[in-house]
Amino acid sequence: MRQNLALFENEDVIYKKYLPQITTLQNKPIKINEWDIPYTISELSYLVHSDYRYYGKFPSAVAGQILEQILPPSPDHYVLDNFCGSGTTLIEAKLRGIKSYGVDISWLSVLASNVKARYIDTADVKKELFKLVTWFENNKENFSSPEDAFVNKWFSPQASRDLCAIQDYILTMNSGAIRDFMLVAFIGIIRRVSKAHDAEVRPHINKNKKERDVISAFSKKISDMSADHAEFNLQTDKNLIADCFIADNTNLPKLLDDKKCYLVISHPPYLNSFNYAPVYSLEFYWGSPFEAEYTEEKKNFYKEEMKAHPANEKITEEYFNHLDKCYRETYRIQPNGSTLAIVIGDCTRNGKLIPVIDQTIEIVENIGYRLEEVNYRTTHYGLGKYAYKHRADYHGTDNEKKDGILIFKK
Ligand SMILES: C[S@@+](CC[C@H](N)C(=O)[O-])C[C@H]1O[C@@H](n2cnc3c(N)ncnc32)[C@H](O)[C@@H]1O
Repeated sequence: MRQNLALFENEDVIYKKYLPQITTLQNKPIKINEWDIPYTISELSYLVHSDYRYYGKFPSAVAGQILEQILPPSPDHYVLDNFCGSGTTLIEAKLRGIKSYGVDISWLSVLASNVKARYIDTADVKKELFKLVTWFENNKENFSSPEDAFVNKWFSPQASRDLCAIQDYILTMNSGAIRDFMLVAFIGIIRRVSKAHDAEVRPHINKNKKERDVISAFSKKISDMSADHAEFNLQTDKNLIADCFIADNTNLPKLLDDKKCYLVISHPPYLNSFNYAPVYSLEFYWGSPFEAEYTEEKKNFYKEEMKAHPANEKITEEYFNHLDKCYRETYRIQPNGSTLAIVIGDCTRNGKLIPVIDQTIEIVENIGYRLEEVNYRTTHYGLGKYAYKHRADYHGTDNEKKDGILIFKK
């Protein structure tokens, strides 16, 4: 007991090292702060955060800081992330010993979040990798690649043949944690071994890209993920709940109807940024034989994805309608006195500002929540202090286009 307490109070733990530097700008009537996060992607991607590349995720420090500020009233209370993405909130909650749930509309996000947040026996993973590589080496003359225009466009014949082989192997594995882990590693290398740019959000052919060997990329991914998990296992309670479900956040799972959700952390896609389904088209292609199993045959769930791009009148209206519906739903399940933290940014359309933050505050206050605190982010994710300055739109409170963390109370 004393040992656990000492661990909890230890300021040197990695998840406390990269919290935002906070300046208070106003204390009343609502508190306004500036959050500066002057760290690099690799600094912020400690432990399992780097296991699954996710476009548009927030820095671990954002979820971390909210969790530091708002503590659960009891161990039964949990945090819910209703746009869970790659599970950043679940990881940060688990590191702090807080129970958590997530929901996302994409089965790949849900799978990746669960694999990242759960305990995994890394010795078993290594054994399975050895079996796979041995099988691959012994059978490589017999593999063939799928012949279709999509695959031919995005992958070399060798890469598609090798991906097909790994996919076949995973399909024959028994369901369970090790197979989920292998599948996330497999999905995690797709972009890297494709002909598409690694860095661009939506896939585009990169004519200069050097071909990567699939089996060595996969083995490296498994080794990196195993090392991250071994460390994460040591720092977290194996039995603490951190579960993500496939669901549309305008209709939350029944399990959350217990009035124990003391905090919602919510990070919708930013208006006019991108939609997720096309960005992950390569991953969804290779994941498709597994889809029915992981979605329990709930087909066409992507139709419910909240569209954020392009910000024409129709999409903009639907975007705000979605926010209204999903926060009515969190309001329904949350107990009185609980907190809703929304991470959201303004955008421009044809050079004109759409004040997403102000409109969100209006929507959420109409539902019955009360705004308590606004935190503006001054630095972009990942490139170190001010490295992004020449490109970023969000800088401090003087700029009209803002990126904010809005804290409401029910
Ligand atoms: C900006 S991302 C969240 C990223 C997350 N904070 C992280 O760090 O990985 C938004 C997420 O909302 C999900 N989403 C979109 N529409 C949704 C809906 N109707 N219900 C639940 N999730 C949805 C997308 O699939 C995407 O993963």
